[in-house]
Amino acid sequence: ANKYKIAVIPGDGIGKEVIEAALAVLDALASAGGSFVLDYEHFDWSSERFKTTGSYMPDSFLDVLQPKDAIFFGAVGDPTVPDHISLWSLLLPIRQRFQQYANVRPIRVLKGIKSPLADCKPGDLDWVIVRENSEGEYAGQGGRTHQELAIFSRHAIRRIFRFAFEVAEKRPRKLLTFVTKSNAQRSGMVLWDEVAYEVAKEYPHVTMDKMLVDAMTTRMVLRPESLDTIVATNLHADILSDLAAALAGSIGIAPTSNLDPTRRAPSMFEPVHGSAPDISGKGIANPIAAFWTAAEMLDWLGEKADAKLLMEAIESVCGRGILTKDLGGSANTAEVTDAVCTAIKESAQAQ
Ligand code: NAD
Ligand code: IPM
Ligand code: MN
Repeated sequence: ANKYKIAVIPGDGIGKEVIEAALAVLDALASAGGSFVLDYEHFDWSSERFKTTGSYMPDSFLDVLQPKDAIFFGAVGDPTVPDHISLWSLLLPIRQRFQQYANVRPIRVLKGIKSPLADCKPGDLDWVIVRENSEGEYAGQGGRTHQELAIFSRHAIRRIFRFAFEVAEKRPRKLLTFVTKSNAQRSGMVLWDEVAYEVAKEYPHVTMDKMLVDAMTTRMVLRPESLDTIVATNLHADILSDLAAALAGSIGIAPTSNLDPTRRAPSMFEPVHGSAPDISGKGIANPIAAFWTAAEMLDWLGEKADAKLLMEAIESVCGRGILTKDLGGSANTAEVTDAVCTAIKESAQAQ
């Protein structure tokens, strides 16, 4: 079996609950004939740690994480710590310092899950949002990227567009929608548009269209089937991806990969959702975002068959109506987790 070194950082709130659930599912997958072995190192980097020791993670975090094949992250955020302190002490420095510049957020209506949009069935909403993850509106707030003062640099725009075109090119529809606000945001976004058309010339087989971010929200709601791959800035994609998750059923299902496409640094995998203090400790968090995130991690590591098997297990459990409250069901985290583990074992036995 292929062995991978994984840093596990559950963090705060429901981050701890959904990561524990996802590790159970990954174990089930590995022992049901999976072709991988995960060698975990667990880190207590969290608001708890901050409150007792004064820091979220050691100063040496880059050296500690560098040898890992991937980072599996839960969520950070605690009602007693200002959010800009917690986020800029843990999650955002890892993304920026490792130059995980492509934040990839696939989202679709899974079998068995009902979209809040009338008549929206699996297949009608099937998107990949590519989020610029290294600068843009998030630049210069403590991140030490190589162009700390730049908000939108040509270099970063070009690499995220190339990445997005590569994603779009591998999908059947070969359609890339780029999101902008160049009508108002003259600084940066005019350059964003310019680079979009420049890079488009390298990908003649991909159809590209342009949307202003405000109009994009209406298109996502009214014509979800007209979209496929989407590329947007750090902040725009942050907002659009929560909308996308809700349109696909719940923020509780949506996964994220923070990729360093050069593979010089480890990439980081996490649910889109946060620490959800309103439901944490109750055992009712939806673990599907963490499961789907685990599947994305396996896929990135090259374990494509197991990633696919995990997604099928998730969809078979959803299809049987075993859903948490956010999806209109009454199952708790443990029940969904057990059902997915059982589905994995059954499908492995059937093979
Ligand atoms: P949130 O995603 O934590 O919660 C928003 C709403 O969605 C809440 O009502 C919550 O109960 C619900 N929800 C989220 N995940 C769910 C799940 N898996 N199952 C069921 N319901 C779920 O966003 P927020 O409330 O804006 O932020 C809470 C804290 O998390 C803040 O401190 C924020 O800064 C932080 N945050 C962290 C991350 C991250 O670590 N990646 C992401 C977003 C927010
Ligand atoms: C996300 C989150 C983070 C972001 C916050 C918590 C800093 O909302 O991963 O979507 O904006 O990137
Ligand atoms: Mn967000």
